[in-house]
Amino acid sequence: MSQTTRTLVFVKPDGVRRGLVGEIIQRFEKRGIRIVGLKMVHPTRELAEKHYAVHRDKPFFEGVVNFITSGPVVAMVLECPNAIEVTRQMMGATNPINAAPGTIRGDFGLDIEQNIIHGSSDPEAAEYELNLWFKPEELVGQ
Ligand code: TYD
Ligand code: MG
Repeated sequence: MSQTTRTLVFVKPDGVRRGLVGEIIQRFEKRGIRIVGLKMVHPTRELAEKHYAVHRDKPFFEGVVNFITSGPVVAMVLECPNAIEVTRQMMGATNPINAAPGTIRGDFGLDIEQNIIHGSSDPEAAEYELNLWFKPEELVGQ
């Protein structure tokens, strides 16, 4: 059974710099996904470190935090049935080299660090990231 859920997605600084924001939002809209929150933010180091806290001990942590704080991102809360799975499918594999054509990373990326887009990976991550990035009053109601 499919259940309507929410997920936290953001276009990373490379996607913003390359002018891919409109294209990416259009893909979600055309799929029928509802945008319930949307804003541009230049992430602070504190926000980036909290966002990637699960990766704190990974070798790429410092690099990804530096990258994500290098410029503004466009963050959004997306809602649809199985939102996490649907948006992760549309994003493609973490390493764009392995991402299928037709996915966002597969169509626009080649670099594992500068991989254009973030999307929550599971329900716990989605809840944590939603609360980290958006205040309840920044989300539209029904
Ligand atoms: P991860 O959560 O594994 O991927 P995803 O974004 O698909 O959920 O990793 C978080 C980010 O860290 C990833 O989008 C890009 C960066 N990263 C690297 O720079 N090098 C790596 O080897 C990995 C696994 C991730
Ligand atoms: Mg992840």
